[in-house]
Amino acid sequence: MTSSEIRQHFLDFFRSKGHLIVPSAPLVAKNDPTLMFNNSGMAQFKDFFLGNGTPPAKRVADTQKCLRVSGKHNDLEDVGFDTYHHTMFEMLGNWSFGDYFKKEAIAWAWELLTEVYRLPKDRLYVSVFQGDEKDNVPFDQEAWDLWKPIVGEDRIIRGNKKDNFWEMGETGPCGPCSEIHVDLRPQSEVDRRPGKELVNADHPQVVEIWNLVFMQFNRKADGSLEPLPSRHVDTGMGFERLCMAIQGKLSNYDTDVFTETIRVIEQLSGKTYTATQREYPDVAMRVIADHIRAVSFAIADGLVPSNAKAGYVIRRILRRAVRYGYSYLGFTEPFMTRLVPTLADQFKDVFPELKAQQDFVATVIREEEAAFLRTLENGLKLLDKITAELSQKTASVIDGETVFELNDTFGFPVDLTALIAREKGFTIDEAGYQKALQQQKERSRKDAASATGDWIEVTDIDRVEFLGYDQLEAEGRISKYRKVQNKQGTQYQIVLDRTPFYAESGGQIGDTGVLLVHLGDEEVLVRIADTRKENDLIIHISNDRELENVFDNHTSVTARVDADRREAIEDNHSATHLLHAALRQVLGTHVAQKGSYVGPDALRFDFSHFSKVTDAELAEVERIVNDKIRENIPLDERRNVPIDQAKGMGAMALFGEKYGDFVRVIVFDPAFSVELCGGTHVSATGQIGLFKLISEGSVSTGVRRVEAVTAEKALELLNEQQSTLDQLKELLKAPKDVVKAVQSLLDERTQLQKKIEALENEKVQQIREQLLGKIEQTNGHAVLVERVNVPSADSLKQLAYDLKAKVDHLALVLGADINGKPQLAVMLAEDLIQSRNLHAGNLVRELAKEIRGGGGGQPFFATAGGSDASGLDRALAKGRELLR
Ligand code: ALA
Repeated sequence: MTSSEIRQHFLDFFRSKGHLIVPSAPLVAKNDPTLMFNNSGMAQFKDFFLGNGTPPAKRVADTQKCLRVSGKHNDLEDVGFDTYHHTMFEMLGNWSFGDYFKKEAIAWAWELLTEVYRLPKDRLYVSVFQGDEKDNVPFDQEAWDLWKPIVGEDRIIRGNKKDNFWEMGETGPCGPCSEIHVDLRPQSEVDRRPGKELVNADHPQVVEIWNLVFMQFNRKADGSLEPLPSRHVDTGMGFERLCMAIQGKLSNYDTDVFTETIRVIEQLSGKTYTATQREYPDVAMRVIADHIRAVSFAIADGLVPSNAKAGYVIRRILRRAVRYGYSYLGFTEPFMTRLVPTLADQFKDVFPELKAQQDFVATVIREEEAAFLRTLENGLKLLDKITAELSQKTASVIDGETVFELNDTFGFPVDLTALIAREKGFTIDEAGYQKALQQQKERSRKDAASATGDWIEVTDIDRVEFLGYDQLEAEGRISKYRKVQNKQGTQYQIVLDRTPFYAESGGQIGDTGVLLVHLGDEEVLVRIADTRKENDLIIHISNDRELENVFDNHTSVTARVDADRREAIEDNHSATHLLHAALRQVLGTHVAQKGSYVGPDALRFDFSHFSKVTDAELAEVERIVNDKIRENIPLDERRNVPIDQAKGMGAMALFGEKYGDFVRVIVFDPAFSVELCGGTHVSATGQIGLFKLISEGSVSTGVRRVEAVTAEKALELLNEQQSTLDQLKELLKAPKDVVKAVQSLLDERTQLQKKIEALENEKVQQIREQLLGKIEQTNGHAVLVERVNVPSADSLKQLAYDLKAKVDHLALVLGADINGKPQLAVMLAEDLIQSRNLHAGNLVRELAKEIRGGGGGQPFFATAGGSDASGLDRALAKGRELLR
């Protein structure tokens, strides 16, 4: 079976068991502060387990792009060294939301593996949870009893909390699990040692392929478990490992999921992949074949490498691959970028987002690689310098602080430092490095420290109702609240059953406003500073104090959004849609949204485009948007449109955004702007009033950013500019043509400057003539030490050079007070330098002490500046003395 067939059989099998097949969520997790990337199939369904949302069906199955590179599940450092861990992998999963439980999950898993995929039964082992006293969860007798007739008792293993109790993160849904392991060793080895002994022992050919989790609990922030409202099934099968088992390979990298990519790496590097375990060229090829997937799909899902958060994780993964390629495969030019087309083709049917953005992804990767290769080269130079210095001191250890700094400041990987150090006969202070790293972690932990309390339930509700599309005020009740301690202090997070508050998403900033909390006849006003989303919850954030009693005893709440602010936000949001459409019209349909900010003050729009947007293009975009505003196009808002129908309308969807089966479509003229959007909008474009672009620039490779203002802000901007112009007219006494007036001022200024220069020259010449008369002849040398009145340091220098040209054997010290700043110049004839071993630089430094300054220069000419003009005469007296 090819990998595509294997994937398809999985989906077909569960479809036949009544499951709805859904698309993979994007790699980058949205609206979940506990998660940066989707790290398992269930992440996108978290709220269904917690009872905060309703699933599209009770039985669901899919293949999910997962990334395990941060947080609780992190396999990054294993990748490449073994043959079965990945950063990005596909997880095949089937789910029951309060529907079937252990019996069906177990029976179907067995049926699929042994009857559809025909894996040999005697090579499969299963594990069940042995129980945990601390958590007060008993041995999973039920699972044991279900497995026993299927696999026989001697193929069941009891597993501990680490292996058989699955949790998505520090908090969240969790439960006991049953894993299925497969033994892929040759028969001769199996005969020598039973596979059962190797389960969970990190053996590369005795690996877990499927995990069946029986979701029953929620892990709370205080570490305790609470039962979930109902019981669910969450399974996850490692697709690449399954392919290895079915295709009879000994490594995931030998399956058709990876072989094509590895073939291209072989071609580009001229080296051969031999599939040996830990030889470096092979490790490097595995690292690259793995990492290019993670990086490409993350970028296709909307992420760009950066210095913070998820963008930084992607940057680090890419750099890890580049470094392996550089050190072990001899790649000194960008090469990862050349693997993108292979991947895009391979996945075009299952994950078409990569093919759709192939050029963009390849360009971002190429630029990022090129930049890092430069860093590597600079790092190498720095290392050369460091080792040279150590050699001089006959030391042989590079200290930990230096290793850390190389890594932290220059992005130079520690193991590469160690490797190069070794090649040069040095070692690194590993312990010192670890210490420095620990200290930094400690610092950033302190900075980020925040403690989130558990939810305190006040009113039991089914789901949160958002009313903000139609109203700005609503009556409701507090469902639950919690307290968060962070650097800014204490914060309350409040969930209502119904709310008009829009929670930040899709670039649109969260609403502010007030909650009027009623306690019988009394009323307490709670200020809402922001509104955010956490999965399907709408969280109102307040920085007010001591509200527990108010919340616990409330009878009802009036929630009121700041209306003016919301209106300004809506102007900007609708304008963003018009802008998006206008950009595509003017620049081309390759323009895809890469991010946006829609606030009350301004709007910002990032989009893919490879060159600077010209002034003419910007003017055209601005003109189109303003035309559409004046057309006063009414908002055509359609809710609950089936996704396929929406796409049929030509609605623009964003890559990396998760859409449900039913979507909201925002239309401003079906022939102009149709977008999938959850935001709030004006009722007709005329409301926006005016649209003014204020900047255009680059955010990162291939991504441009424009900023604009609308409505009142746009008018304010124009008024400010007008008022500046009026003031200029007034100052210049030029009511008509200010530009002409400024131009003639500039011309006049140039004329005057020329005149000044001529006058100064004349003056310097006069001074020179006077000075020629003051030269003393001593011992065959011409000595001149004088204070002069010149207009600039340049003319002082000019004077010194002129005198030297006219007088032989000259030794000269000149001092001048130039607008309160003392200056010295020393000029010495060649013969003086030779015969008396003099140096103008040394001399001027000595004299500069008197004017509290410093300077230097060549042996024949040097200058100094100082801060104490009153010392000028002393400096000259000293100069006279020394020259004599
Ligand atoms: N959520 C489970 C896992 O990731 C299936 O292993």
